[in-house]
Amino acid sequence: MILTTDRLVLRPFRFSDAAAIIAYATAPDFIRFLPIPLANPERAADFVAQRVREGQPDGLGDWHFVVQCRGGGAPVGAVRLGLRDEENRQGDVGYVLHPAARGQGLATEAVRGLLDFGFRLLDLERIWASADVDNRASWRVMERVGMRREGVSRHTMRVDGVWRDSVLYAVLAGDAAARALPKVGRLADGAAEDRGAEEEESSVRIVG
Ligand SMILES: CC(C)(COP(=O)(O)OP(=O)(O)OC[C@H]1O[C@@H](n2cnc3c(N)ncnc32)[C@H](O)[C@@H]1OP(=O)(O)O)[C@@H](O)C(=O)NCCC(=O)NCCS
Repeated sequence: MILTTDRLVLRPFRFSDAAAIIAYATAPDFIRFLPIPLANPERAADFVAQRVREGQPDGLGDWHFVVQCRGGGAPVGAVRLGLRDEENRQGDVGYVLHPAARGQGLATEAVRGLLDFGFRLLDLERIWASADVDNRASWRVMERVGMRREGVSRHTMRVDGVWRDSVLYAVLAGDAAARALPKVGRLADGAAEDRGAEEEESSVRIVG
């Protein structure tokens, strides 16, 4: 699945993305608020290879996308929409940007696209996200895209041996914020977005 927003293309991982992913995944600030060990280049490359092998959605129900600027260039980050509870049509989002790509609203734009994909094309009822209470950059993204803070969950993860609390945000399909999301475009799988082919569709259905 290839999605497009004003400035971005959200596309499946390719093996050739490894260098760009390694660039941010091995930087200490990436995991500052996350309960995962700092990746080394090998582990980051394995992550990319697994994404390529498993496709979308993967075995856990996650749709992983590389975020790239329209017109090409190295990937600037990655986003994920998880469908772990299909029966109740719940989804959750995660996102990361390369440090050099921050401060331009690209995460906000990518997540808006992902939310529209989740609501309009996957027919989800609720999409949530959570972040460490001190990960202000992350929960500011949630607020900018129109998610509402539902509360603070205590001791959700242990970072460097210390229990941390998380803020929980969500948006419902019927919320005004969800209905006001810009319509994400979709390119046919295998389309050459690198060549600038952009056939936007506003009311597509997922096939297969
Ligand atoms: C979370 C993360 C993706 C946020 O990145 P970000 O660059 O702050 O987020 P955005 O791309 O939405 O950019 C927002 C910033 O760009 C500015 N901006 C500039 N142009 C903008 C535009 N057109 N639209 C929206 N914001 C814009 C905003 O004012 C904002 O800056 P501010 O925070 O100083 O007010 C980033 O900090 C990150 O990758 N962190 C590490 C991984 C992580 O923690 N992920 C979340 C796990 S829960």
